Amino acid sequence: MKQIANFIVNGKACELAIEPHMLLVEVLRDELGLTGTKQSCGIGHCGACTVLIDGIPTLSCLTPALTARGKNITTIEGLAEGTRLHPIQKAFIDYGAIQCGYCTPGMILSAKALLDRNPNPSREQVKQALSGNLCRCTGYVKIVDAVLAAAESMGKEASE
Ligand code: FES
Ligand code: FES
Repeated sequence: MKQIANFIVNGKACELAIEPHMLLVEVLRDELGLTGTKQSCGIGHCGACTVLIDGIPTLSCLTPALTARGKNITTIEGLAEGTRLHPIQKAFIDYGAIQCGYCTPGMILSAKALLDRNPNPSREQVKQALSGNLCRCTGYVKIVDAVLAAAESMGKEASE
């Protein structure tokens, strides 16, 4: 039997009736139409489905949606402000850190969680923070470069 679930998704309160077995990735993609969150392996290995729950990177393919009731969920759709991309999104484009793009939403959200808690990370800290996000295309170097560049530009923005 369906149950009522309340979430705050990208800053907006939403309430919907869901089956108890539904995973968060299914609710986001199939019920809320937020298809920026990708499902790839479906078993917790690749990080493509990463979203932030109360700011913590979380694998939505392993998260029963009902356990996220009442929480703040951020998906990739929540980062840009209108047509203005988030600095991490912009850096991924500027640094050529995207090829097929399948890993990109999860990578960017893991990077955001890192920069929110550590605005000036080392290269090693970036690699560590992204270690749960697999990319089959880029070789990772450009992704790490992009996150470091985003940290720098966000630091400059904050000091202006
Ligand atoms: S789809 Fe969730 S970890 Fe791969
Ligand atoms: S850009 Fe293709 S998996 Fe990362």
